[in-house]
Order: sequence, then structure tokens, then C-alpha cells
Amino acid sequence: MIKIAPSILSADFSRLGEHIKQLDAYGADMIHIDVMDGMFVPNISFGTPIIKSIRKLTRLPFDVHLMIEEPSRYVEEFVNAGADIITIHYETDRHIDRTINYIKSFGVKVGVALNPATPVALLKYLISNVDMVLIMTVNPGFGGQKFIEYCSDKVKEVRALADIYNKDIMIQVDGGIDESNVHDVVNSGANVIVAGSAVFRNDEIEKNIKKLKAGI
Ligand code: DX5
Ligand code: ZN
Repeated sequence: MIKIAPSILSADFSRLGEHIKQLDAYGADMIHIDVMDGMFVPNISFGTPIIKSIRKLTRLPFDVHLMIEEPSRYVEEFVNAGADIITIHYETDRHIDRTINYIKSFGVKVGVALNPATPVALLKYLISNVDMVLIMTVNPGFGGQKFIEYCSDKVKEVRALADIYNKDIMIQVDGGIDESNVHDVVNSGANVIVAGSAVFRNDEIEKNIKKLKAGI
């Protein structure tokens, strides 16, 4: 089954609670939460107080995408805020094997994200120990960017690696996904679709989620 993970980065933050309830009612499978530190990426988003305050509004899994340097410093805080999946970037951690095990020690799921130019081959010794691989299909930092075409090939590479080492893995794509390209990324092997602007566009969340699902 293909899962839809709307990114609340594109939400109207003055109405965040309302949006979370809408996403829940209109068939989102998880909530994608983009945390940015202004160091790893040139943008700052939000942190644990926001996550805590929306945690009580839905039972959907919280899929927390950490775009922060040295993410191990904050794992416990995000677990306590209500994260169900914590994804860290390969590029942000010199001891990623240790951090993966550390995240798992809290009983939450763990994902590893790769920037567009980071090769999939780096996952060879990690993939059997993670629940999810996130292939960035834009350079991280902002919503509303254009999908980078070569990233579809990377999704295929992850699928091939997973066929050898970790068949049940979630393969997530994030950035520039809409109804025009969702079919291609799913065909390439993605099974968790992140979408920000395509979901919140024109404040028509219900219609947009339907469109995205129909595009699969
Ligand atoms: C980008 C974030 C994405 C972003 C996706 O750094 O990781 O989750 O919100 O937004 P769209 O779907 O608009 O590209
Ligand atoms: Zn994201």
C-alpha cells in the first residue's frame, strides 16, 4: 500500500490545529514534520513545542524529518514530543550507525535521508537496520521547489538494495511531488509519498489529497 505523508511545512501555521484534523479526516497516512535548524539547511522551521501541541489532535503517526546538524543531540526530545518515526540525514552525522541504534533504543522507527547528490551506495551497510530510506527529490530547506528528475533513478537503486537486504523497508520521496510525477516515483519503488504544496494548495486539502491518490 502506498502511504501519503503530507508535510505541514506548507500549512498556514495560524490554523495548524485545524489542518491536522483535516489531514486526519481526509485520508493522510502519517504527518510529515520538517524540522530545520538554519545550519544544515538555510531555513529555520519549528521544534518540539509545536510538535507536542499538535500531538493530542490526531493518532496518525508523526514522521519527523530532522534537517539538523548532529541530530543525536535532540533524539530524546523529539521522542518525548511524540515522534513515531525519526529520520536523520546521512550528511549530518559522522557516526550514523551509532545514532540509528540510539534512535531505535527508544522504540521508535528510524529513517535515513539522502540529499539529491548523496549516492545510494552509502546505504549498503545501513539499510538492513533502518525502517525507512528517504530520498530527497529536491535540495532540502524549502517547500514548493521543482522535482529533480535524476532522483527517480536513486529510488530504483534503493529498491534494488532493499531487495537484497531489507525487503519490507519504507521508501519515502520528499520534494516537488504532485499528481504529475507521483506515478513515476511509485513505479520506481517509492511507497511513502511526502507532499507539502501539492496538499495545501488553494486551501483545498480534501480535493488535493484525492487528486494525489488518483495520480498514483
Ligand atoms: C523540504 C522538505 C519537504 C517539503 C516538501 O526540505 O523536506 O518535506 O516540505 O514540500 P513540497 O512538497 O512543496 O516540495
Ligand atoms: Zn521533509
